Amino acid sequence: EKGGYEHFMLKEIFEQPRSILDSMRGRMIADSDHLMMSGIREYENKFAKAKRIIIVACGTSWHAGLVAEYLIEDFARIPVEVEYASEFRYRNPIITEKDIVIAISQSGETADTLAAIELAKSKGATIFGICNVVGSSIARATDAGAYTHAGPEIGVASTKAFTAQVTVLTLIAMIIGKKRGTLEETKLRQLMVELETIPAKVEQCLQLDDQIKTIAAKYKDATNFIYLGRGYNYPVALEGALKLKEISYIHAEGYPAAEMKHGPIALIDEQMPVVVIATKDSSYEKVVSNVQEVRARKGKVIAVVTEGDTTIPSMADYVIEIPETSEHLMPLLSVIPLQLLSYHIAVMRGCNVDQPRNLAKSVTVE
Ligand code: M6R
Repeated sequence: EKGGYEHFMLKEIFEQPRSILDSMRGRMIADSDHLMMSGIREYENKFAKAKRIIIVACGTSWHAGLVAEYLIEDFARIPVEVEYASEFRYRNPIITEKDIVIAISQSGETADTLAAIELAKSKGATIFGICNVVGSSIARATDAGAYTHAGPEIGVASTKAFTAQVTVLTLIAMIIGKKRGTLEETKLRQLMVELETIPAKVEQCLQLDDQIKTIAAKYKDATNFIYLGRGYNYPVALEGALKLKEISYIHAEGYPAAEMKHGPIALIDEQMPVVVIATKDSSYEKVVSNVQEVRARKGKVIAVVTEGDTTIPSMADYVIEIPETSEHLMPLLSVIPLQLLSYHIAVMRGCNVDQPRNLAKSVTVE
C-alpha cells in the first residue's frame, strides 16, 4: 500500500506532480483560455463583490491560507485576513453578511475550523470550503466549496494536501481576479501557462532527493533550526519549520527573513543551521542581505535558490537549486526540498515519520 516507499510520507511527497495536476484538471486549460471551477461558479459574483475575505484554518492548511492571502490580494485586490481558527472563534470577531469566509482543511474534521465556520455562519457570512476528504464534516457545513484532489493523505505530516490546497487557491485567486478585471489578461495567460508547467517542475525538485539526503546527514543532530523566507516564500519557511518539528522533534522556527534582525538573530552561532529560501523574485536582493547577516554570525546556510543563481551559492554552505517559475507559484516548488529535508532528518534520527508522537492525523478536539 506504500507503493514501494518506506513511508507514506515519502510516497505522498513523490505523488505531488500527480496530485497538483489532479487538483487543476478540468479547471484550467491554459491554451484554450479555460478557467473554471464548478464550486465557485454560482458564487463568482459574490466573491467579486466581497469587501473582505477571511481565511480560517489550522497548521499546514493555515500556511496554505497565508499563500492565498498574497495571491488574492495581488490578483483580485480584495483585503484578506488569515486567521488561526482557534483564535478567530474565541475573540468575538467582526463578521458581516458581506464577508466571505474560506475554510481550508485537509481532513475536513478539524474541530477548531469547524467551530469557526459555525460562528461565521451564524453571523451571516458566506462560507466556502476547501477540503480534501469528500463528504467530511467541514465540506458538509459550508455553502459551497472546491475539493483538492490530492487523494488520501495518510502520513500525519501534511505534504501533498498543502500543494493541492495552494493549487486550488491559486485558481480561485485567478478566477476572482479575472472576474473583477484586476488581473490583466496577458498576465493571467502567462500564469496559466506557467501553472501548467508546475507538475513537471515539481518532478525536477523531487530529483534532488539524494542531494538533500546528504544535507540531512550533515545536520541531523542539530538541536535548533531557523527557516527564513520573504514574500511568497515566507509561508513556506513556516511550513518547512513545522514539518521538521513534527516529525524529527528538532526545535525549528520559521521567520520572515527581515524580522530576523528584530530578535532571532541573537540565536545565530556556528551551531545554527539556517534554511533560507532565496529564489529569484522581487525580494531576492533583500534576502541576499539577510544571508550575509547570517554568515557574519557564523550561522550555517542551507539555501534554496533558483537554477543558475551564482550570488547566493557563493555565500551558502549548501545550495539546493530548483527550477525557475513565477514568484506567485514558487511555494509549490520551494516547499518540496523542505519536505524532503525534514523527512530524511527524521528517518536518520529513527523517528516514526508517519505517526509522530503526540499527534493525530485529524485534530477533532478543541
Ligand atoms: O485536516 P486539517 O487540514 O484541518 O488539519 C490542520 C492541521 O491539524 C494539520 O495541517 C497539521 O498541522 C499537520 N499535522 C501538519 O503537517
